[in-house]
Amino acid sequence: MASSQVSCVYVIVLLLNFSVSVFPGVVKEVATSDLNDFPLISRDGWHAEPSANQKLLKLPTPYVVIHHTYIPKACYSFEECANAMRSMQRYHKSSLKWGDIGYNFCIGAEGTAFEGRGWDYKGVHAGRANNHSIGICMIGDWREKLPPKKSMDTLKALIKIGVQMGKIREDYKLIGHMQAMSTECPGTALMAEISTWKNFAQGKPDFAQISSISN
Ligand SMILES: *[C@@H]1O[C@H](CO)[C@@H](O)[C@H](O)[C@H]1NC(C)=O
Repeated sequence: MASSQVSCVYVIVLLLNFSVSVFPGVVKEVATSDLNDFPLISRDGWHAEPSANQKLLKLPTPYVVIHHTYIPKACYSFEECANAMRSMQRYHKSSLKWGDIGYNFCIGAEGTAFEGRGWDYKGVHAGRANNHSIGICMIGDWREKLPPKKSMDTLKALIKIGVQMGKIREDYKLIGHMQAMSTECPGTALMAEISTWKNFAQGKPDFAQISSISN
């Protein structure tokens, strides 16, 4: 049942929170063998600052938008990735005045998912698509090469759990940032990969039109 799988992930999150703060090395030992069993670090786990801009998303969202960060570069350890999260939050919150890190979630090259705005709050990551999507970034520059398989598996698992939790529509459309705005993001290599996935939607959705129907 979906509900037991969902609570399984919550258990992992709680354990990770505990292990990260008490035993910093433990994260690496969490297996990603099962699609419902991947490391997901809560905001507390990476020492996020409080959000100064929380607007509820209308759930479940019809879109998932994939990003790369370009900067910061790919991170391969918990400490490096947590650092990348904090630096993005500082930049998005303090310099760009977005109130918080822009993305709903980010994933490190070592395969750990990090909670940004999370499932319930609108991100600031893809203009008009923000109101209708969960924005997930793969930390690093993925123009020429793909993120490691482990992190791509985490991306699939995160979307899957989002669907199971009722945060993302079952018939969601997967797009890259460049389909919502004029940008190279999520990078040529990553874009080519996600465009082979089952829920990928070709073309550029008219988010102005979608917004006028519903937010
Ligand atoms: C998102 O929705 C809110 C209302 O819920 C609206 O005020 C805002 O303009 C929308 N943002 C975009 C970028 O469409």
